[in-house]
Amino acid sequence: MGKRTTKLRLGVLASGSGTNLQSIIDACANGSIDAQIVRVICNNPAAGALQRAECAGISGCCINHREFAGRGEFDAAVIEQLHHDAVELVVLAGFMRIVGTDFVRAFPKRIMNIHPALLPAFPGLQVQKKALESGAKFSGCTVHFVDDGVDTGPIIIQAVVPILTDDTEESLSARILEQEHRIYPQAIQLFAAGALEIEGQRVNIAPAWAGAEQLRTQALLNPPAP
Ligand code: GRF
Repeated sequence: MGKRTTKLRLGVLASGSGTNLQSIIDACANGSIDAQIVRVICNNPAAGALQRAECAGISGCCINHREFAGRGEFDAAVIEQLHHDAVELVVLAGFMRIVGTDFVRAFPKRIMNIHPALLPAFPGLQVQKKALESGAKFSGCTVHFVDDGVDTGPIIIQAVVPILTDDTEESLSARILEQEHRIYPQAIQLFAAGALEIEGQRVNIAPAWAGAEQLRTQALLNPPAP
């Protein structure tokens, strides 16, 4: 893929406070990603993400899922808005709705999601609590492409965080969220740079971006080795 001459057009979908949206707004503003957010859509009128968009001068709107007969109709309205804005990459950032097959078909290999666990472990909801209760020593977060399943698409980047003896659901969620804010802009930049290739369930990252040598000697232990 040749180098782009225009910035990648992002459409961000969010339901909540929008801290991930904010990390992407900041990364676009400081030039660490070659992209521009052209639209923020919230399904929840009270979402903090709408205020964040407004503060940043980004077009935002609410498409309230409660006003539609079903998921298909809601998805169709969202797709129409994203097409209208000529969105090239759809970014789900704390978007608490499952996108249907037609949505995935409308943006093939062009929808990303962030999930606060190390997929394929702990898909679904309340995953920080599930990780804590499982006794695992590590959890983390995952940016992945969206396919027809729930949290099953090809994985782009993961960040690992330790689970500490005195962790609560809140403390673990906060540690994971900090890493979400690092890896989501990074994944978007890899996409914008044309560095991602999907091969079946795997995402190949172009060598210049993959950091393979650095990773070869890295391992995390919890507890650390004496
Ligand atoms: C994040 O943990 C995200 O992974 C999850 O919901 C949370 C949303 O946070 N799906 P925010 O709205 O980006 O602050």
